[in-house]
Amino acid sequence: MSNLYIKHATIVTPLGNEAVKGEDMRRLNVIEDGAILIRDGVIRYVGNSNPLRHIYSIFGHGATFREIDAKGRVVLPGFVDSHTHMVFGGFRPDEFRWRLQGESYMSIMERGGGIQSTVNATRDLSGADLVKNAERLMDRMISMGVTTVEVKSGYGLDFNSEAKMLAAIGQLAAKCRIEVVPTFLGAHAVPAEYKGRTSEYVDLIIEKMLPKFRKAARFCDIFTEKGVFEIEDSRRLMKAAAAMGYKLKFHADEIVQLGGAELAAELGAVSADHLLHVSNEGIRALADRNVVATLLPLTAFALKEEFAPARKMIDAGCAVALASDLNPGSCFSGSIPLMIALACIYMNMSVEEVITALTINGAAACCLADRKGSIQPGKDGDVVILDFDNINMLPYYVGMNCVRTTVAKGNVVYDSNL
Ligand code: NIG
Ligand code: FE
Repeated sequence: MSNLYIKHATIVTPLGNEAVKGEDMRRLNVIEDGAILIRDGVIRYVGNSNPLRHIYSIFGHGATFREIDAKGRVVLPGFVDSHTHMVFGGFRPDEFRWRLQGESYMSIMERGGGIQSTVNATRDLSGADLVKNAERLMDRMISMGVTTVEVKSGYGLDFNSEAKMLAAIGQLAAKCRIEVVPTFLGAHAVPAEYKGRTSEYVDLIIEKMLPKFRKAARFCDIFTEKGVFEIEDSRRLMKAAAAMGYKLKFHADEIVQLGGAELAAELGAVSADHLLHVSNEGIRALADRNVVATLLPLTAFALKEEFAPARKMIDAGCAVALASDLNPGSCFSGSIPLMIALACIYMNMSVEEVITALTINGAAACCLADRKGSIQPGKDGDVVILDFDNINMLPYYVGMNCVRTTVAKGNVVYDSNL
């Protein structure tokens, strides 16, 4: 049943249908003792907790609906995790250990480990097993309040294996009860069989993969990085993707400052992600061209890198989103609570900014801000009910989950009480 009446809630939400930039990220709408009515999965009413006449006019006489008393609890829009690689085969704990002993992420990649080792394991796995593994991770994400998740391909790196990954993402979308946004990331690395022939691999993506995957993926993404896909290859590939109707995302300026942010802005990308080493010009370009700056603090933490300059970006007028980057290599974590704590403690983001980053700006990074990311009539009935009545509990409760209930399109998809 997707009819739901939430009453006596402290509703905290950003407002609007687009990314929120700069100092506006601090502005949240608060309704004390609030009510939310969700009919057929869509929010129909948000207001005070005495909506009796609205209940009958919205649900109709005799209609059935579930009721949740949220007294003493904050209700937020469902979290949008706008950057994950949660479909994959195998794990890389040895690589993590090598990194702790001092080896760098890129040097492991250069000697054939890293992404390539997940590519080998993913090619060996059936589509059904890929889906089964991802479902387990998905359940955890939902328990931390995630109601929309972007999922990338990029561990296939040949036509059939990328097709298998995108099909698995499609099956995951059909099976799980939250929104899944599929992204094609054929340009995640140059596969071993094309080593030294980057430009030929780019040709393969442009000529064979992009035209065939247009229906299965809404976005095209690329790892724009020194020694992987540098600026000219990235520009060529992403221009071709845009011409075929893909929306663009970039892994930009993650390991070194290469100008990925500037390229994302030049090509009108929806988001530029990572940005640990973004230049001042890059920050300016993202702010001016309305490219969402998606920051991934769990990855910086797991790689022992400096965090992205979130404060500088927000102060420069960027729209910042936060996402997990959940993947088997650089960041095997999808911990929303830890991400929130890192963003507040080390990136100097306020709790209000973090909420905006994880809701409306995440939705904008998925081109879904017209439907997701705020608690307003007409939007999908996606909300998170916290255990507490105060948003300051979110970073204070370091790394611990304080989600009581997750609601996606009016359905309770997680409840810590059950
Ligand atoms: O976003 N840097 C490129 N891609 C992923 C890591 C993928 C992996 O290590 O398997 C990232 O960090
Ligand atoms: Fe990533």
